[in-house]
Amino acid sequence: MRFDPAAALRGELTPPPDKSISHRAAIVGAMGDEPTVVHNYLDAADTNSTLNAVRALGALVEERPDELVIRGSGLREAHEPDGVIDVGNAGTLMRLLPGWLAGQEGRSFTLDGDASIRRRPVDRIAVPLERMGAGIEARDGRFAPFTVHGGHLRAVHYELPVASAQVKSCVLLAGLAADGATTVTEPAYSRDHTERLLAAGGATVNRAGRHITVLNADELGFDRIDVPADLSSAAFLVAAGVLVPGSRLLLRDVNVNWTRAGFLRILERMGAIVLGDLEEPNDEQVLPTEPVSDLDVTAGPLLGTTVEPDEVPLAIDELPLIGLLGCFAEGETVVRGAAELRVKESDRIAAVVEGLRALGGEAEATEDGFVVTGTGGLRGGTIDAGGDHRMAMLGAVAGLASQEGVEVSGMDAAAVSYPGFVADLQSLM
Ligand code: S3P
Repeated sequence: MRFDPAAALRGELTPPPDKSISHRAAIVGAMGDEPTVVHNYLDAADTNSTLNAVRALGALVEERPDELVIRGSGLREAHEPDGVIDVGNAGTLMRLLPGWLAGQEGRSFTLDGDASIRRRPVDRIAVPLERMGAGIEARDGRFAPFTVHGGHLRAVHYELPVASAQVKSCVLLAGLAADGATTVTEPAYSRDHTERLLAAGGATVNRAGRHITVLNADELGFDRIDVPADLSSAAFLVAAGVLVPGSRLLLRDVNVNWTRAGFLRILERMGAIVLGDLEEPNDEQVLPTEPVSDLDVTAGPLLGTTVEPDEVPLAIDELPLIGLLGCFAEGETVVRGAAELRVKESDRIAAVVEGLRALGGEAEATEDGFVVTGTGGLRGGTIDAGGDHRMAMLGAVAGLASQEGVEVSGMDAAAVSYPGFVADLQSLM
């Protein structure tokens, strides 16, 4: 699909529901005893995989306009499915669900997914879950397909070797079924949606800086879970609004949780004009709610910046966009401490560097990030999404801001997180 240079983008819209929170809402709803109403659940390939997975585990999911009702099977009552649980392309599903399954004593569950999922490591969850008392058998010890053998779990204090919200969440979910208090220490702050949902569901979950503790629970109960708009999806519209001269966009009801909003803080440093009411950092408490704000985006000139390792988890899925923005910024834009990008839906260090170069940008890969030198813009050309939804959308934004336009091959990958992306862009032209 081709994206030609655009005149000013103008208008307002509400970006799609948050993918991370939708996955979690379906999983914790399935773990609950009482019906959970989820308002504004994301209807996209990844989160549909999660609904199918929880159905296979015994949850009843009723889809109504604008909301879902999930009748869970209970914390310790996941049903053993007939076949393999297909996680599709969803890394979050693959890494969170086993946290619940690990505590299902005497039952086994096999998970598998698409070609991209089969390249993404699961040893990062196998290590803590085995330490807690579950059994995991994975292909080559670290890849899908893999089987979780539920066991009687004991609490652990687990220090995450990498800042990963998926692994943290997995251990916290398992902690609900473990004897005692389970603590996870993260090397840097990462998204805390699981902690907030567990608190909303009545679990005891506390934070003291980078240490999060959850206590054994008998049940979870939610009246209603509201899913805000996804900052990671909004980020593509924000980038388009910042880059295409003359643009002015209003993006409504976007999640501005401080553990997610790193992209907006980096943009601010780059001199971009994006107004919003961001949540202040709070590392002493677990709040049971998610903050939202409208984002008011105006196009303008940018300065290069350095993204430091501590900021990486707070903007992990938006780092490719920082690379794109760097092509239009004055000076160098550097991302450091982001080796995790290599194990996303694609190797996003290689994908960003090769993609930007193919469009006329100056970009170099490093071991744990990349360096982009601003050249005042991008010529354009062809970019291959390589099956990665975020690379497809990056290519589209690059096209609108480029001199000659961009042909994105594999644009349909956007359906993983943002099926209405092209239509939304068109509505702003
Ligand atoms: C996610 C956490 C991040 C992120 C992913 C979603 C989550 O992954 O990249 O898209 O929902 O917890 P890691 O935990 O591997 O950093």
